[in-house]
Amino acid sequence: MKRREFLKKGTLAAAGLVLWSKRMWNSTPASRTTDSRIEVLFDEPLGTISPNIYGHFAENLGGVLYDGIWVGEKSRVPNIDGLRKELIEHMRRIKAPVIRYPGGCFADSYDWRDGIGPADKRPRRTNFWANAEPEKAPQSHRYDSNALGTNEFVHFCKLIGAEPYLAANVRSLPAEAFQQWVEYCNSPAGSTTLAEARAAAGYAEPFRVKYWGVGNESWGCGGEFTAQEYAVEFRRYTAWLPRFGDDLSLIASGPNTDDWSWTREFLTEVVRKGPGQLRRIYGMALHHYAWNLSRGKTQNWEAGKGDALKFDAVDWYELLREGERMEGLVTGHWHVLSEFDRDHRVKLVVDEWGPWYRPGGEATPGNLLEQIPTLRDAVFSGMTLDIFNRHPEKIAMANCAQLINCLNNLYLAHEDKFVITPVGRVFELYASHQGGNALRTVFSAPTLHYDRDGKSATFWGLRGSASVRDKNLTITATNPSPSESRLTEISLRGASAKNASINWMSDTDIHAHNTFEHRDALVPHTIPLSVNDGALVVEFPPACVAAVNIQLS
Ligand code: AHR
Repeated sequence: MKRREFLKKGTLAAAGLVLWSKRMWNSTPASRTTDSRIEVLFDEPLGTISPNIYGHFAENLGGVLYDGIWVGEKSRVPNIDGLRKELIEHMRRIKAPVIRYPGGCFADSYDWRDGIGPADKRPRRTNFWANAEPEKAPQSHRYDSNALGTNEFVHFCKLIGAEPYLAANVRSLPAEAFQQWVEYCNSPAGSTTLAEARAAAGYAEPFRVKYWGVGNESWGCGGEFTAQEYAVEFRRYTAWLPRFGDDLSLIASGPNTDDWSWTREFLTEVVRKGPGQLRRIYGMALHHYAWNLSRGKTQNWEAGKGDALKFDAVDWYELLREGERMEGLVTGHWHVLSEFDRDHRVKLVVDEWGPWYRPGGEATPGNLLEQIPTLRDAVFSGMTLDIFNRHPEKIAMANCAQLINCLNNLYLAHEDKFVITPVGRVFELYASHQGGNALRTVFSAPTLHYDRDGKSATFWGLRGSASVRDKNLTITATNPSPSESRLTEISLRGASAKNASINWMSDTDIHAHNTFEHRDALVPHTIPLSVNDGALVVEFPPACVAAVNIQLS
């Protein structure tokens, strides 16, 4: 259903709403008074935005690795050493900083030793996800050929310019295997038998992998541990790891959404051996998926999910509502961390985030957990990245789940077909925040009202984040209203604008998305903005995610 038709149905239609269309939209209309305001406070810096907040996640699940990333050297699909070329090219463009692999739940079933050595000698194993695979799934998704192992993954990262983030198996391998994986990756050329094995594959120089996850979701698929049990394992697995002159950044398996007790009980047990134990932890993982679109009717994981493509305006808001919980999760878990770690050496690593819909809308039938992102997911993703930008001192890394052919993917691919999704486009819009200095920014806009199954509900009207690097200011924002544009005055407190442009993405249809056939149905557009005496007025169209790029004088 088109947005216009849906508006006629009356869910949101109300007298006075400004209906927007691509043709009508003018970035600085003179005839209306502004209804919103963005104030950027240059004398209130929040800290440097870690580039790793713009990180990714690639699990050996469904079509992520096989068909998504790995096509094989002999494939007719354009590739670099077996790795999908178009994917590498776009990931370079968005400056992808870090990629987490091989899971997820898969990580705690994976033996890294299966994925090294000559490809034709590597064992074929049952994938962790085999039982969940749909009937139409290809055999390669159920039974892992191990063609994409550590060498290929690290090579993929290096081709992009990203850091690898490897998740170690704590559920089904001993601590020794973790130590040896570090040794395989990081021991100097010629130093160990494992360094020689790496050299035999063509990689004499160490990979110098810095980021290591110690298990994944250890409260669930990663071992069904209690927080105390996992803390004991964490201490044991990290009590000694070979360093080879480089610091390792170890990431502890953290809570699911608002499980404050996991964070508290884990840390209580870790420091039972003394507060110095905290120094082992670089980051505490946090996972949050927005899945419950039942409008408060159920907490059941299956029954509560919504559809990726078929939704109305209330579902639109429900997803954003579930996503904006992220801010409270970040501040809440940070608060718990402060009970143990006054100096805040331990940061948060949000290494899985995104919407999760019910099955049925796959671009390639048979791909487990594949969904087609729409404009709704783009606004959701912009909103989430803005939350991260607003807490630079707390968040060291975040990894969108997942990179390709799965959940909140940036890309969909099948054989020689490839498309950048609206989520991938959001990562383009937001790339200039990486490494920028976040500034406190006040967004004021009318509150939105909507009918949530007979009960009135509200949502904020405009939010975002700002960062500055050298003389370049980036303001990103989302307008969650499916029907109203926001005419916004931008005030810079402590700087003045020389010139500016807006890079925005929206559509008159809130379901807009890209497909293999229509690859550019939803893409960003850039428009120059006029600056009058250092002041700016910009109109954010309905259902929009945007970046305002300002050059300061
Ligand atoms: O991203 C899919 C799965 O979600 C991951 O494997 C797991 O960590 C989480 O539950």
